[in-house]
Amino acid sequence: MINFTQKTFNLSELKGISTKNIEEHLKLYAGYVKNTNFILEKIEELRKDEANVYLLTELQRRFAFEFGGMRNHEYYFGSLENGPAPLSENSELKKAIEKNFGTFENWLAIFKGLAMTKGIGWAMLSYDKKTGQLLNHWVDEQHIGHLVSTFPILALDMWEHAYVYDYPTSEKKKYIETFFENVNWEAIEKNFIEAQ
Ligand SMILES: [Fe+2]
Repeated sequence: MINFTQKTFNLSELKGISTKNIEEHLKLYAGYVKNTNFILEKIEELRKDEANVYLLTELQRRFAFEFGGMRNHEYYFGSLENGPAPLSENSELKKAIEKNFGTFENWLAIFKGLAMTKGIGWAMLSYDKKTGQLLNHWVDEQHIGHLVSTFPILALDMWEHAYVYDYPTSEKKKYIETFFENVNWEAIEKNFIEAQ
């Protein structure tokens, strides 16, 4: 039986993102884990009877949404664990970013622009192991726009629930800036090493 476990995150007080917002956000994450497991169970149950084909089809569609919601948030909260830390000058990730985007600052400006995409979803940096390249991309909702065979390195939640207790929706740019003030780049570097 496939089953996923809810993770816990060591999140000390963040700069510009309130504990209230994080607490509410973690409840949503818990819901995604619960629903991922629930759908897997339900699919097993419903597929025993052909009369359930319509329900089954809809649940199968829903699975990627819930799974994406679970996993995306694990990258997001994981990047905020144990306080902020800079990306070290000699890190492999820094070198890869510079190779793909010229400078780290150039990449960061591109990524912040991507995060301003209209709608709910995620700004992501993923690693394509097949070509050794890093890709910035937008994921709609939780599941539409993940790139096949790539590994997420950095995931920035741009759903309004990620910042609505701290910033009005017209000021999401401030939330993006705040996120980067809190990122633990050691965790991001770890994602990159794992992806390779
Ligand atoms: Fe979220």
